[in-house]
Amino acid sequence: SMSQLEKHTRRFTEYLAANPFHGKPETLYEPMNYIMELGGKRIRPALVLLATESAGGNAEAVLPLALGIETFHNFSLLHDDIMDAAPLRRGKPTVHKKWNEAVAILAGDNMLVEATRFMALHGDKEGHILGFFLQTAREVCEGQQMDMDFQQRDDVSEAEYLEMIRLKTAVLLGCAMYAGAVAAGTADATAVKMYDFAIDAGMGFQLQDDLLDTFGDPVFTGKQAGGDILAGKKTLLWIEMWSKATPEQRREIQSLMADPDESKKVNGIRHLMTLTGAEARVRELSESYFEQAALLLHDLDSEGLDMTGPAELLAFLRGRQH
Ligand code: IPE
Ligand code: IPE
Ligand code: MG
Ligand code: MG
Ligand code: MG
Repeated sequence: SMSQLEKHTRRFTEYLAANPFHGKPETLYEPMNYIMELGGKRIRPALVLLATESAGGNAEAVLPLALGIETFHNFSLLHDDIMDAAPLRRGKPTVHKKWNEAVAILAGDNMLVEATRFMALHGDKEGHILGFFLQTAREVCEGQQMDMDFQQRDDVSEAEYLEMIRLKTAVLLGCAMYAGAVAAGTADATAVKMYDFAIDAGMGFQLQDDLLDTFGDPVFTGKQAGGDILAGKKTLLWIEMWSKATPEQRREIQSLMADPDESKKVNGIRHLMTLTGAEARVRELSESYFEQAALLLHDLDSEGLDMTGPAELLAFLRGRQH
């Protein structure tokens, strides 16, 4: 039989297909639908629906909130791909490559407006969900700016990196879970615990996203292999590699980073990330966040909530190897 995760992902995908963006000029709405319909794992909308059901609510009723969260996510990707100079997303050309940067900026802007409208129209009457979403959106921007600032620095600490990924990635998973829980009328303490679960899952998820960027198969990631290395991202892989490198290895890193041959650069740095133990350390840390998330699930379970769905999502994230 279908897992809860599959059931909810499918339900959301059908809802999305039935509710495309429309308006004029079409040149504004076409790239918005292009990115939304490219697919993706749909983990954030799944979290909204799963959180609602775990809290005893009705998943159908929160589909518009799930769409709001997924629209915000896709807005952030349109702008992120410009910022990261990424040519590929979900195995297809990014919007700024298929059209141009101006189109990707404006389509993104309008998606942010649409996302906010969904959250405002379909949240609770008191505006808790909208307020939480707005705070989250602000944090995502803060995380994205930190990510870019770090590209210009060589002394980024592990703590700074972890705060950056909490903001750019984990808080949106948290907001998805929180919105679903609040919409079901959950007690605030429970909604906060569900938020904390999604934060830990999101931390593990972004560490894994970094691993996949460097070590994953582009056929499965749908992204350019080694994009983070080429962009000079200060991932934890980078920070750990640099801190563990011998003086000789540091000179090698510097000469590789100055090499105009992109595949030589990516292959060389990737090799050093493994050799210095950075890869193993990041895999361990990712796993420990997932483990922490699993502990919070057990807590919620023993409080009488049915966490089967969120547990399936956690297992899915944890098992992503490509
Ligand atoms: C990509 O998110 C951006 C990150 C926060 C890592 P996803 O990996 O969830 O992207 P899709 O929606 O599944 O394509
Ligand atoms: C993206 O982080 C976070 C947001 C879009 C807010 P990344 O830049 O690592 O995401 P990918 O790897 O491009 O999907
Ligand atoms: Mg990116
Ligand atoms: Mg980025
Ligand atoms: Mg990435």
